[in-house]
Amino acid sequence: MNLKDCHNFEDFRKLAKKKLPSPIFHYIDGGSDDETTLRRNTESFSDCDLVPNILASVGKPDLSTTLFGKKIEMPIFLSPAAMQRLYHHEGDLASARAAEKFGIFYSMSSVGNDTIEEVSEISKGPKLFQLYVHKDRSISDDLIDRSRNSGFDAMCLTVDTLVAGNREKDHRTGFTTPPKLTLQSLMSFAMRPQWVFNYLTTKKFELANIKNKTDKGTNIAQSVIDYINEQYDPAMSWKDAEYCVKKWNGPFALKGVMSVEDAKKAIDIGCTAIIISNHGGRQLDGSRSPFDQIQAIREAVGDKLEIILDGGVRRGTHVLKAIAAGATACSFGKMFLFSLAAGGQQGVEHLLQNMHDEINRNMVLMGCKNLKELNSSKLIYRK
Ligand code: LAC
Repeated sequence: MNLKDCHNFEDFRKLAKKKLPSPIFHYIDGGSDDETTLRRNTESFSDCDLVPNILASVGKPDLSTTLFGKKIEMPIFLSPAAMQRLYHHEGDLASARAAEKFGIFYSMSSVGNDTIEEVSEISKGPKLFQLYVHKDRSISDDLIDRSRNSGFDAMCLTVDTLVAGNREKDHRTGFTTPPKLTLQSLMSFAMRPQWVFNYLTTKKFELANIKNKTDKGTNIAQSVIDYINEQYDPAMSWKDAEYCVKKWNGPFALKGVMSVEDAKKAIDIGCTAIIISNHGGRQLDGSRSPFDQIQAIREAVGDKLEIILDGGVRRGTHVLKAIAAGATACSFGKMFLFSLAAGGQQGVEHLLQNMHDEINRNMVLMGCKNLKELNSSKLIYRK
């Protein structure tokens, strides 16, 4: 199996599984507790149907839109994702280059393996920085300042990960950052010699943007669950979020908003966007799916916020349904990380081409010339 055999999520997932040591594969693939929310995130798209209009003389639909003050070529982007060097030795540089080629946002995680400065050097495309508020507040201050100085376009603050979800697969595999050979994991690494070779012969694995503030995750191996529980502040409040919004003073999203009430508060503290997300089903299991919350939130906030749907997206038609329900754009994490593992920059480009073709084809089939025409009249929920 290789990249040209990857037509959908499951194909990329299979190829990624062949290339990655199993603790790393399961770290991306897994959700929390019983993985109910992980499954529901995708299933929720099937509770409604698209209703096409015929003979609309669509020709070539316009897939572009505006997000965080930038024109983007299609209404999707790569979710912020930690430690991308785990999936491919070129890490964030590969994802950022692929996103730039397709004219969409690339996002950098606070706990990435490449620096803010390195990425801004190689990509002139639109860039979003994802912030985690650490107990040591000087970390977020520093990340905001450096993102601004490096020309990042927008900032998001993750608010659904104040403590770590119960990711039982990580407990079983003993996954740590940096990856550590243990008796338990020895075989899984030995079975992926190409991955081990790339890991050992390329740039050192580190939490590149915060290694000057803490050794944890860089020189001291730790499970991600322990890292989150030790480093992030479980008492983070609206005041802390507002502080970050003001300090950034530009396009800003809260990532992990699920309720109508919180979406309204996001407007009050000066956010320009929200990312409706349950962290890909990795945090609160039993949480409602992001797709199920779009309509109510859009109704409540009108055009005061851009709304990004994050979670469960596997197909172009999922993006179409999200837009029809009121989203501005969609982002996806697992699907893109599998494509990164499957083939580095080329893998991500292959996925983005598939998604582009799916969105384009289905816009024609829907009879929509542009994303504005894709409104709630095109969506019917089953009873
Ligand atoms: C995770 C964090 C680090 O989901 O975003 O593992």
